[in-house]
Amino acid sequence: MTGIYSRIIGTGSYLPEKVLTNKDLAASIETSDEWIRQRTGIRERHVAAEHESASDLALQASRRALEMAGIPAEKLDLIIVATTTPDMVFPGTACILQAKLGIKDMPAFDVQAVCSGFVYALATADQFMRSGQYEHILVVGAEVYSRILDWEDRGTCVLFGDGAGAVVLKRSSEPGILATRLHADGSHAGILSVPGSVSGGKIRGRPLLQMEGGAVFKFAVKVLEEVALETLSAAGLQKTDIDWLIPHQANIRIIQSTAKKLGMSMERVIVTVDRHANTSAASVPLALDEAVRDGRIRPGHHVMLEGVGGGFTWGAVLLKW
Ligand code: ACO
Repeated sequence: MTGIYSRIIGTGSYLPEKVLTNKDLAASIETSDEWIRQRTGIRERHVAAEHESASDLALQASRRALEMAGIPAEKLDLIIVATTTPDMVFPGTACILQAKLGIKDMPAFDVQAVCSGFVYALATADQFMRSGQYEHILVVGAEVYSRILDWEDRGTCVLFGDGAGAVVLKRSSEPGILATRLHADGSHAGILSVPGSVSGGKIRGRPLLQMEGGAVFKFAVKVLEEVALETLSAAGLQKTDIDWLIPHQANIRIIQSTAKKLGMSMERVIVTVDRHANTSAASVPLALDEAVRDGRIRPGHHVMLEGVGGGFTWGAVLLKW
């Protein structure tokens, strides 16, 4: 349907209080601040407290986004939470969040697309909005990756952190989200996975993150360029029209390579990976919230959000602020 757009009217984010620096990690595993910074750009990450779950982080981020949007939670027509680290097998984290927000009746569901989760959830919300059925939609990315890491595997545990980011979308006759593109290729599942499940009351497999770092790196750089170009083309825009690039925050070298391929200077790229590490589905809304609140993103700017992650999944959302 034409003439209906989704506009982001509020952003919010939340990071757990505890900060774990590279130096802290070097005290328990054989690594160094220098190695981690050089290979990844990461200096520190936040780690959730024992009692905090994905829905708790999501709740804080959502409250902040609702506050900026200036609407009460009761006005929400739909809640979508992107997470790979849900509170439990079921109910979905979106339903748990709904209850914690003290509201009911509107649909609430989770999207599981790993590090592309927020982009997938935002693209899904945009389709619902364009159907004309909804007026306000809450989209959240929330993760507690600290729970699925092998803290003795220096090749993976140094890369991730916990956090949440949220946006409130409002139906508008002005753009808004201009174009979205999503992809998946399940044949690459083996290079990044958490190969465990619950079966008969026991854990089957190994529910800890495993990754072939080099293969992930190459794949991410390739598809982040491709999907950005595809999304620009769908909106009838050029690379030079992008004011701000917000790629998934996995690794500064992936981000730099993507920016270079798109011909963008790093001054136009929002970077939080140094302080947050890779927060999977939360990384893009965390970075968006930071850049909105510090005034870098301003009305009229074109912003490209990009995700890539396990599945493999990847996608982009291009919007006019
Ligand atoms: N500290 C010190 N040394 C380490 C560490 C560490 N934390 N981790 C690995 N090493 C060692 C390895 O054991 C290896 O030693 P060896 O040569 O004696 O065998 C050496 O460093 C080089 O290891 P590589 O894996 O080849 O290092 P590389 O330069 O490829 O960097 C990294 C590894 C950072 C994981 C890189 O491949 C990468 O960034 N990949 C992308 C992965 C990523 O970002 N994943 C995020 C999840 S996916 C997503 O979000 C899209």
